[in-house]
Amino acid sequence: MTELLIRGRVLTFVNEPQGIDDAASYRYVEDGAVLMRNGKVAMAGEHAEVSRMAAPSVTVADHRPHLVLPGLIDTHLHFPQTQAIASYGAQLLEWLNTYIFVEEQKFAQAEHAAFIAGRFMDELLSNGTTTAAAYCSVHPQSVDAYFTAAEQRGMLMIGGKVMMDRNAPDALKDTPQQGYDETKRLIGKWHGRGRAHYAISPRFAITSTPEQMEMSRALVAEHRDCYVQTHLSENRDEIAFATSLYPDAKDYTDIYARYDLLTNRTLLGHCIYLSDREISVLAETGAVGVFCPTSNLFLGSGLFDRDRFDRLGARWSVATDVGAGTSFSMLETMDEAYKVLHLQGQRLSPLNSFYRMTLGNARALRLQDRIGSLHAGADADIVILDSRGKSAMELRMRTAQSLVEELFILQTMGDDRCVAEVYVAGKAMKGRKVVAARRELETA
Ligand code: GUN
Ligand code: ZN
Repeated sequence: MTELLIRGRVLTFVNEPQGIDDAASYRYVEDGAVLMRNGKVAMAGEHAEVSRMAAPSVTVADHRPHLVLPGLIDTHLHFPQTQAIASYGAQLLEWLNTYIFVEEQKFAQAEHAAFIAGRFMDELLSNGTTTAAAYCSVHPQSVDAYFTAAEQRGMLMIGGKVMMDRNAPDALKDTPQQGYDETKRLIGKWHGRGRAHYAISPRFAITSTPEQMEMSRALVAEHRDCYVQTHLSENRDEIAFATSLYPDAKDYTDIYARYDLLTNRTLLGHCIYLSDREISVLAETGAVGVFCPTSNLFLGSGLFDRDRFDRLGARWSVATDVGAGTSFSMLETMDEAYKVLHLQGQRLSPLNSFYRMTLGNARALRLQDRIGSLHAGADADIVILDSRGKSAMELRMRTAQSLVEELFILQTMGDDRCVAEVYVAGKAMKGRKVVAARRELETA
């Protein structure tokens, strides 16, 4: 039995905050602790009580005065785009053709895929993200690289090979049958192995023929416990192109609805220009609209209308969307989310931001029993946040009066420098990476 006792200010949500200071939505313990046993949370709460439950030989990691939260969750990004962040000047379709479809061809090389997959997972961990849902490239070897890197680190990760059989370079195209066969084989190999979850991933309507959408329908029907991820309504030119390819569909959302791709495990990136009818379809099916603020600003795509999602009862989550997204940091992502909503006269409260990065995104993934909060029995994926991680933050924190104010400072000014440590299934990971980097330097 391995036990670790973490000390710090423990914060975990139990429900979605309603308003700026909804104290019933979270549990906060100033002199708190989390006892981790065999990779699970055994108990979280007052240090005095939790430490009584620990074995006399327990190892203690004292993180006071930092915050102890569940690991952060990212519900949409692209692992093969790790090295293509910050590609200049283009909107979605031109950006895909100029930069991304060139970059993703490199993942035919298993060695390159393995190198980037390792760096990708370490980048997530440096930023306090312990679970993410990512697209791999069209190459099955990119999926092997992705899940292998996650498995080596013990991370709960969701991913899948993109399927695309048109409007892409030949080197990135599969065929409907190949997309089906490769996806099927990868599901058999990875889904449910350790902490891996597979996402059936037709990239978007523009890059899949009706035949490939039929194959996607079959995959979804045959694997109800897999996720489905695709893109929807991100950019006006994209919408015009997609709907022109499916002239019988009522609108963009209806393209996916017709192929039964909207389920309560479907993650739909962006969802910026949806009509009320389309958002209502998401509400009926339980599909999730994924808000990617840094990406939507970077590509000049548009502004996600959170209030309309809430009013129509549709589910939504938050994500970085690296490499159109400009940061792996969920803190920086929520900073931009706040501004995108502010531009539309909408408010995103600090409590809601931290709920979204943790329990909210876990619920979007239907993984709230495992991750996103520090309940007994949860997987011990934990982030330690230092609200004074930068000198300007240390100065600003001197005037902070409350937890809510501190959280707002963290999301507005924070980044990976505020992640003091991250635990995956009870193992400290951030220090581990520094040691590995030093070894790399020593042997160079
Ligand atoms: N739509 C289809 N593929 C992509 C992608 O890789 N990134 C973004 N932002 N949108 C997409
Ligand atoms: Zn995307």
